[in-house]
Amino acid sequence: MADFKEIKFFGEQQLPMEMHKVRIIQKLNLLPIDERVKSITEAGNNTFLLKNKNVFLDMLTDSGTNAMSDKQLAAMMTADDSYAGSETFYRLEAKIREIFGTKHFLPAHQGRACESLLAQILIERPDQIVPMNYHFTTTKAHISRFGAEVLEIIIDEGLEAKSDKPFKGDINLDALRYIIKTRKDDIAFVRIEAGTNLIGGQPVSMQNYREVSKICHDAGLIFVVDASLLADNLYFIKTREAEYKDVPIVEIMREIGRLSDIIYFSARKLGCARGGGICLNRDDLAEKLRELVPLYEGFLTYGGMSVREMEALTVGLDETLDMDMISQAPQFINHMVDELSALNIPVVTPAGGLGCHLNAKEILSHLSQDRYPAGALASALYIISGIRGMERGTISEQRNPDGTEPFANMELLRLALPRRVFTLSQVKYTIDRVNWLYQNRELVGGLKFTEEPKILRFFFGRLAPDSNWQEKLVEKFKADFGESL
Ligand code: F0G
Repeated sequence: MADFKEIKFFGEQQLPMEMHKVRIIQKLNLLPIDERVKSITEAGNNTFLLKNKNVFLDMLTDSGTNAMSDKQLAAMMTADDSYAGSETFYRLEAKIREIFGTKHFLPAHQGRACESLLAQILIERPDQIVPMNYHFTTTKAHISRFGAEVLEIIIDEGLEAKSDKPFKGDINLDALRYIIKTRKDDIAFVRIEAGTNLIGGQPVSMQNYREVSKICHDAGLIFVVDASLLADNLYFIKTREAEYKDVPIVEIMREIGRLSDIIYFSARKLGCARGGGICLNRDDLAEKLRELVPLYEGFLTYGGMSVREMEALTVGLDETLDMDMISQAPQFINHMVDELSALNIPVVTPAGGLGCHLNAKEILSHLSQDRYPAGALASALYIISGIRGMERGTISEQRNPDGTEPFANMELLRLALPRRVFTLSQVKYTIDRVNWLYQNRELVGGLKFTEEPKILRFFFGRLAPDSNWQEKLVEKFKADFGESL
């Protein structure tokens, strides 16, 4: 799809256009505001603990929630159900080889399983370090489980919420060179996360992949790419990096395959299915992984995935080569970011992949980070709209080994747009309610933990408002919206 073209509108406003139609639907329900308050209270003000039946627009994540195509669903019916040697697996393996050009494919039940396996084979001593553009929650948890330390060396603009830098996920090359110069023997591996999740789904340039690969290989270091959010990143390489404008997506994927030693991914994101896997050329590392996959995941021809999911993934990966498919979410996100920016509402710019990210640190600048502004904004938005976002700020960080609480670099509320799921009117509703909340932001107070798990506390932690601010917010909503849901 080298010749990707946009549809131009006759009127002034250019709108994103879906290149698919809806053929199966799921009914939605928007509870009245008093019931929404009850639901979020029962959920300990943690949107992970909400029941989906109480959610109107589920913008928690794109993980396992992307809409599947007719071809994916059809392929699921052709799955070859067998424990060992399934034809379904060989079809998936061949597709991976075609798109990444890699020799070995080790299946796993999802992205974090790949991270667990990789940490086991690549981390040799507890005092090692893992330089990367930025951590992801599960990545860091697995690396620190083995005592190693994550070193974030993203370019400075990566941590500036507002910027016009097209590739905010790039690694700072000088920082990488310096770490190699001073601590080369301590480096377990170097990692790039495509579509850098926690800084707002921000992409990495091909130029950066090339340079990081060269630096790593000159120093004899293993270069790992987390391709979970690669679909969005491919779209940005093609639209923001001039020399790739006419290069087919599959060529870009193969180039990433050639540059890296290991590619792993969550198929809940890449490929719009469920599952995951590790792709690599190195026989020695593949050999080590082959010993662990049957132990933790399942036999080598399924690795914890159902055969139906593997069929859906094979087709989903093929569809990722189509710009009509991978452009949909970034274009909707861009629309949301443009509209919210026009209303002067602080959002992460430029628009990235994965979702629209509200800058809670600025929106709720009256809240200090120990009152969890991103968590408070997530709770408030659910109350006033039924929309479920995800806190990506201090609550998503883990405590330091000495028990102190590190404040996140960014306090974001992520409104994920799973691929092909929401319509433009649902996006417009979201913009409208975020705007109302912004106008009434001084009513939003903080949160405090009532139950705080030790590991990945954001998943199960429970919090309570630190004053009666939620009652006041509901009062104002009723005064402004009357009987409206
Ligand atoms: N790497 C990245 C960049 C991710 O975004 C995720 C998951 C994983 C690894 C782990 O994959 O969920 O299949 O085990 N991100 C989800 C999210 C959970 O909502 O952002 P997984």
